[in-house]
Amino acid sequence: MKHNDFYKKILDNNKAWVEEKLAINPAYFKRLSENQTPPLLWIGCSDSRVPANEIIGAEPGDVFVHRNIANMVIHSDMNMLSVLDYAVNILKVKNIIVCGHYGCGGILAAMKNESYGLIDNWIRHIKTVYRLHHVELNQIENETERFNRFVELNVQEQVYDLAKTSIVQQAWTQKQELSIHGWVYGLNSGYVTDLEVNVTSNQDLDEVYQLKFKKL
Ligand code: CO
Repeated sequence: MKHNDFYKKILDNNKAWVEEKLAINPAYFKRLSENQTPPLLWIGCSDSRVPANEIIGAEPGDVFVHRNIANMVIHSDMNMLSVLDYAVNILKVKNIIVCGHYGCGGILAAMKNESYGLIDNWIRHIKTVYRLHHVELNQIENETERFNRFVELNVQEQVYDLAKTSIVQQAWTQKQELSIHGWVYGLNSGYVTDLEVNVTSNQDLDEVYQLKFKKL
């Protein structure tokens, strides 16, 4: 299919989708336009093969979504912090899922030494995860297995990085209901695996990260 054919097709798809929704419920878009109360924040990879809503059967209104290369939680990223703050403090989501995926190009690039230009500076954050876990990773001789394990360890680190934010720590201090989960999606199978990363309070963090908030 030529590029222009694809472009025309997606506009037609949109019209068909609107008609399909309205046929089921004439008030579908009116109801959606009134407000959003999604119970879930999704932090996933930008990879085109891991569409957040689709793989969990979620409808419009169900998921607040943030995606970047290799589903990273970088503590100086204003985009991620703004999404997280809005999701936790305004939308009051009860669950946050960091969803990585096997075969992630960002993770693979971080294992290698090739330069790809500007993106090297983003990938560098992933290399830090490798350095943290280099003892375990370097023991895995099979490169595919090492790659898979690196994907999992990166998700785990991003869950911890979420827990280290002042936003999440404050929510937990205030006894707000908020769980963080680490998932890995299998491009080959379509199934997700819950890594069961268990971090439920800032007591689970290294002491140096534990914030004590002033009483207001
Ligand atoms: Co990816």
